[in-house]
Amino acid sequence: MLKGRHLIVPTDFTVDELNDLFRLADSIIANPSNYSDVCKGKLMASLFFEPSTRTKFSFDAAMYRLGGNVLGFSDPNTSSAAKGESLSDTTKTIANYVDLIVCRSPKEGAAKLMSKASSVPIINAGDGGHQHPTQTLTDLLTIRYYKKSLDNHVVGVCGDLKFGRTIHSLVKALSRYDNTRFIFISPEELKMPEYVTKELEGKIEFVQTDNLDKVMDKLDILYMSRVQRERFVSEEEYLRLKDYFILDQQKMQKAKSDLIVMHPLPRVNEISTEIDNDPRCVYFEQAKLGMYIRMALIMRLLGV
Ligand code: CP
Repeated sequence: MLKGRHLIVPTDFTVDELNDLFRLADSIIANPSNYSDVCKGKLMASLFFEPSTRTKFSFDAAMYRLGGNVLGFSDPNTSSAAKGESLSDTTKTIANYVDLIVCRSPKEGAAKLMSKASSVPIINAGDGGHQHPTQTLTDLLTIRYYKKSLDNHVVGVCGDLKFGRTIHSLVKALSRYDNTRFIFISPEELKMPEYVTKELEGKIEFVQTDNLDKVMDKLDILYMSRVQRERFVSEEEYLRLKDYFILDQQKMQKAKSDLIVMHPLPRVNEISTEIDNDPRCVYFEQAKLGMYIRMALIMRLLGV
């Protein structure tokens, strides 16, 4: 039962609860018109203290497609946060007006703090370099959609594994499925944080490498990620690492015919546009599936 719950990290929901969300998303995809007014009269606050295209638009589109309404901001300078109001007070106030709150913040732990102040469900739409659970729901739905199962995959995770919150969330979530094996592909400077690998040790098979070419033929899923410029202290270091991996036709020739290439987007240079039409590249379809899983999530948290 998800009604009234918060979503702060992907493991807040059990595997059974996730399966229920995926089944609801399947039903929405198959018959969207059946759901066009299930949220009539409901309001969602959309509070974005950090830039977003996919998460904000897909959440807003999800609520409107369910017949609900959305209010909020994508420029925090238009709220009283700019006058120094605490996040906790902002949350308590906005919770008086709406039925659920979606929030993205540059600060790790912001969503957890909000959940303690809120009388309505809080959905973490990304908190700093920490977690991005609705991207993970999107990613799991995408894997299930294309691979028909979340078990038994060799998953290459490539790019900025240090700062990529979508990656930390995905690894945590996929670790709950049978026979997941990870290949972490990054330069030494952007390696997976130890707090993530420590949780895997002795339970989930993983290897670390800085050579994408060498592992292409082993992968069932390749999850690419952007080097997160906004989290670097040194611009020089960012410029040195930003094009470390570029997925192109030459690399794709080495991959399995049923590989899927995913990316939370936005991309910068890490995937060449020359492979966008390769049927194995599903990142734009992934972004679309993100709207359907958010529709399912909103419905379950509101109990409609
Ligand atoms: N994937 C993702 O979170 O994209 P946005 O930053 O555009 O929301």
